[in-house]
Order: sequence, then structure tokens, then C-alpha cells
Amino acid sequence: MARVNVELKARDADPEATLARCLALGAVESGVLVQRDTYFAGRDGRLKLREQDGERPELIAYRRPDSSEASESTYVLAPVADADAMAEALDAGLGATVVVSKKRRLLLWEGVRIHLDEVERLGSFVEFEAVLPDAGSLDEARAKVTRLRESLGIVDDALVSVGYSDLLLDSADALLRAADAAMRNAYAPYSGFKVGAAVRAPSGAIYAGANVENAAYPQGQCAEASALGAMVAAGESMITAVAVVAEKLEVCPPCGGCRQRLIEFGVPSTPVYLGRPGSKTPTTVTLAELLPGSFDREALDA
Ligand code: THU
Repeated sequence: MARVNVELKARDADPEATLARCLALGAVESGVLVQRDTYFAGRDGRLKLREQDGERPELIAYRRPDSSEASESTYVLAPVADADAMAEALDAGLGATVVVSKKRRLLLWEGVRIHLDEVERLGSFVEFEAVLPDAGSLDEARAKVTRLRESLGIVDDALVSVGYSDLLLDSADALLRAADAAMRNAYAPYSGFKVGAAVRAPSGAIYAGANVENAAYPQGQCAEASALGAMVAAGESMITAVAVVAEKLEVCPPCGGCRQRLIEFGVPSTPVYLGRPGSKTPTTVTLAELLPGSFDREALDA
């Protein structure tokens, strides 16, 4: 059965203070869980085997929009009798991508689960999970999550829009895979040269795009421009890393125009990965190396 949650996740600079504020609000402590989630390469990477001290293992398939605002996710749970055998079968069939291990302090407040998570290799996070119908209607659940956010003083910059698995996945390879997937959908009937690009925003979300050509040749658009357009349309305007993949080249240098487009949203040290998914050492350059002496907004103030 598919269920619905309203969720919000943020980095937590001071877990002790967060715990104290939750308790002051009337949240009730409900235990400490040690969880290990193994992720598999499902259709959209949202398939995980959860193993938890003293609990029956579960297979969880879920969908969540990569949004830092409180968002709804739909999920399906399946109890698992033999976690090792299930992990082996899924790894053989789909491939395991990443393991997320964490210690979770669980609190309950008005039907909302509050997670104070210590995640191996990532640090401390606070997460709200309003499970329907325990937390009321969808509107009520959203209002409760908003109230919790305000009470804990969670600022926009602390919000995390992606799952722990996304944060842990090697950023170069995750970006190259996104660029590669977009490249496969490129519309390049005139040049026959398919390109895909992916950019990562500070939220952790990845935006990808492909080249889109046109019978009127100059109207064609590069993959990098498509990826940046997707990012801007989603409400973000900074990039922390870039990947470019081309079907016919091991290493595809971004064209001059795209170097200028990219530096608009990055900083001189922003890494650009050029290669293919799975390549052990993609060529890594910085935006400054790609475009020294670029024209920028300061030039406009002269
Ligand atoms: N292309 C890109 O998408 N990005 C680049 O950085 C280099 C070139 C596309 C544009 C055109 O559709 C095709 O590659 C051949 O130039």
C-alpha cells in the first residue's frame, strides 16, 4: 500500500540545543535507533533495504521530489525475512549503490516524527516526518511541520533537499550519471553529436540537460544551457559542481559560450568533471581554468 509523508530535512549545527527545544515543545522521546540502509539502483534510486536493531528488516521503495521545502513522499514497505539474501539478490540484479549508517534519536510531537540523526561520514541532521493520517490531514501535517521548523529556528541555508544517500554518493559520479542519462535523450539530428550536462546546486539537487538542435541551426541549444535552465526553473541560482558527457568523446570540452554561461552561476574554483560515468578518474578542471579572465557582473559596474 502506498502511504504519504510530509517531510523536511536540515543540517543541524547544534543537536543538543535542538533536542532541548523539541522537549520544551512537548515532544516525547521514543528511543534511539541504529539503522543501516543499503540503496539499490532502482528506476530512480529510491529502493533501500533497512536493517535496524531488534526490528524485522524492510524493503522500502519510495518517491520524493528533491525539494528543500516540506514535501510529500509516497512509499511502499515490504517486510524481509532474510536481509542478507535479499541484499545479495538485489545487488546481483540491480546493483547496490551506497550504504547509509546512522544513529537516530526518535521523538514524537503531535503525530509528527522528529529524527535527530547522526549520519556516518555526513554529520548531524534534524528531520520531520509527518505521517498521514497520524499527523492529521495533508494541510494539518504541513502546518505542523512549518510550526516545528519555526520553533527550531531552521534557516533556509540549513535545508537539505536530497536524501542521505545522495549526499554520500560520490559527487563526480552522481553528476556524470545524471549527465549521461540526459545525453541519451539529446535531440541532435543535425550534428549527430549528443551531449549531456548536469549541475549540482548547494541544496545537493542535481539538474541535467541535453543539447537541443534545430533545423535553423543557430537556434540549437547546448546541453549546459539546458541544465542551467532546469536549475533556474526549479528556483536555484548557484552551482557547486558540473559534469559534461558526450556520446562520441571520452572528454568533451564545454564550448566557449557555455564556459561563460557556467561561470555566471559558479565560482572560479567550481569543479567541472569531464568523462563518463564509472570512469575512475574523470578529467577535473575548474571554471577558472576553463575560462580565465571571464566577463562578470563586476565589469558591468565599471
Ligand atoms: N554542444 C553542447 O551541447 N555543449 C558543448 O559544450 C559543446 C557542443 C552541442 C551543440 C551541438 O548540438 C552539438 O554539440 C555539436 O556542436
